[in-house]
Amino acid sequence: MPAKTRKPDIPATAEFDRRALIAAARAARKRAYAPYSRYRVGAAVLTQDGAVFTGCNVENAAYPACICAEQTATVKAVSEGQPRLRAVAIATSNGGSPCGMCRQVLNEFGGPDLVVMLVDNRGRVRQTTLRKLLPDAFGPENLVVEE
Ligand code: THU
Repeated sequence: MPAKTRKPDIPATAEFDRRALIAAARAARKRAYAPYSRYRVGAAVLTQDGAVFTGCNVENAAYPACICAEQTATVKAVSEGQPRLRAVAIATSNGGSPCGMCRQVLNEFGGPDLVVMLVDNRGRVRQTTLRKLLPDAFGPENLVVEE
């Protein structure tokens, strides 16, 4: 969509239903397919249009084919026509932080203002931003090619 016709982003400080997003991530974690690592991850992304998409990690006997929960949720949102993310909740046993590749994927669609909530299995939440998790990120704006 051309930049001029695009709806402006909701301010990063705007409120949203954190509890609902966290609950969605925790529910998605129950669907994790993680027979190899046994590290179950659930994610829920909130889009600029207010929709929520969830995902879990989906592992594979060929280990490099494993897909992270954040990527499952992001790809579901993008492939359903909702590529602009406001927030993500990530549920694990221990409140683990997203891997480097997930940070890069989240940056593409959420940018530095993306709110990131890390939730453990006791419901403890740490809130941060993608700016803090991936400072000086390489993003679409950096992809300038010479004529
Ligand atoms: N995993 C995620 O789903 N997200 C992350 O950000 C870190 C790792 C998954 C991948 C694999 O299925 C398991 O956790 C152990 O690495």
